[in-house]
Order: sequence, then C-alpha cells, then structure tokens
Amino acid sequence: MSLPVAVLASGSGSNLQAILDYQATLDAPPWRVELVISDQEDARALERGRRSGIRSRFLQVAGRPSGDVAGETLDLLRSADIGLIALAGYLRLIPADVVGAFRERMVNIHPALLPAFGGKGMYGMRVHEAVLASGARVTGPTVHFVDEEYDRGPIIAQWPVPVRAGDAPHVLAARVLRVEHLLYPRVVDHLGRALARGCRPTPFSPPGTVFLADSRTVADVERAIAAGFVDGIAPALRATEQRT
Ligand code: GAR
Repeated sequence: MSLPVAVLASGSGSNLQAILDYQATLDAPPWRVELVISDQEDARALERGRRSGIRSRFLQVAGRPSGDVAGETLDLLRSADIGLIALAGYLRLIPADVVGAFRERMVNIHPALLPAFGGKGMYGMRVHEAVLASGARVTGPTVHFVDEEYDRGPIIAQWPVPVRAGDAPHVLAARVLRVEHLLYPRVVDHLGRALARGCRPTPFSPPGTVFLADSRTVADVERAIAAGFVDGIAPALRATEQRT
C-alpha cells in the first residue's frame, strides 16, 4: 500500500508538477499524490491535478473563520487517508488544528535560505526582491516541516543557488525554481518512503544550517538527503528541534 500524499498549492503548481513527474519515474511508488487542494478556484495547480486524474478540490479560505477552514481541511485530508502533506506555493497560514494533526508530516518549500527572507508576506517575487536588495551572494530553496508560523518549522533541506551580478528578480526566481523542482520531489520521496514504512523521519542537522552547502550535483543532494534521514526519533535531533 502506498502512502497517500496531499499537495496544497495557491498558484501555478510547478512544484506539484515536479512531484508528479518524479512519482511517475518510480517503480511501485511507496507514496502517491492522492489529493490536491487550493484556496484559489482558478489555480493552475488544480488543473494540473485534474489532468493527472487526481482528486483536486478548491477550498474556500478567504473570509471564513479559521476553525471552519480547519474542519473542512481535516475532513478532506482524512477522507483520502492522507499521511503526508506538501505545501507547494500555498500562501495561507495552515490552521493550528491541522498543524497539530500533521506535525512532522507536513512540509513546505520556500524560495530562500530560511531563516532569512521568510515570514508573513514573504512569498514569490517579494522574496527574491528582498534577497537582491540585501546584497546576498547566495540564495536557494529551503524545505522545512510546517509549524504554527509562516516559514518557521525545523529545516529539512536547503540547496544553495548563486546570486549573480545584475540579476533581475524574475531571473533569480527562475534559477531558484529550477532547483526547487529537483530538491522538493526528492525530499517528499524520502519522507514518503519513511512514513510508508511507519517510521518518523527527522531533519538531519540543527535548523539554521545550510546542510547541502557543499552539494553541487543532484547526486550529491540525493546522497545528503538519503544519509540524513533517520528512522525513528534520534533524541539529540529531537532536542534540537524542540529548542527552536
Ligand atoms: C515557489 O517558488 C515556492 O517556493 C514559493 O512559491 C512558488 C510557487 O511556485 N513559495 C513561497 O514563497 C512560500 N512562502 P509553483 O506554484 O510554480 O510551485
């Protein structure tokens, strides 16, 4: 039995597509995307999900009490027996009840090296504009577990991407997005495999570290992710997580 995965997305859903494309390369995948949810009725992500034959649902979030949204979200997730959630360009804060029900089973991708350039209002092009304005020479995506705050949960993986002189925000965004498409499916795959076996994967270094700073190829990143995930809970790592 493969582990049902839900992807939540507000926009284009290119990361969703990258996950679906990666899933299609797996023999007997231990996980599968079973549900796509969007807070935007016209999100391209919903179209991508439907085109792949996946149950894809618009969920009204704007103007509704958080408790109602949480209840409907949990009903949807439970009806599909979801075991892992991947936020892929989902721009709403996840209600605390949903975070609590999926702690360490919900991940997000952010297009900068957290904890820098994250938090409420930091999404999409704004992130890349802020990176350029800061003069940073390096940026890159972060995948982290989701907690009750925007972009704050324990970091699972990061992949540095150079900022080049004269970069416009959209040029930098495209360079980072290409790496997101490589990194995110591999992290989802490792989490999905561990959870499908009934193991709880842990982040592999203390949050705040650029774990993959020396990784320059996809093979390097795959090795780092594979080496880093620990089956079961490693007490030292748990303690580190709890301090954040
Ligand atoms: C991605 O760059 C993702 O990292 C970012 O939104 C984009 C979604 O693109 N997420 C955030 O900024 C979250 N704070 P996509 O819809 O094409 O996958």
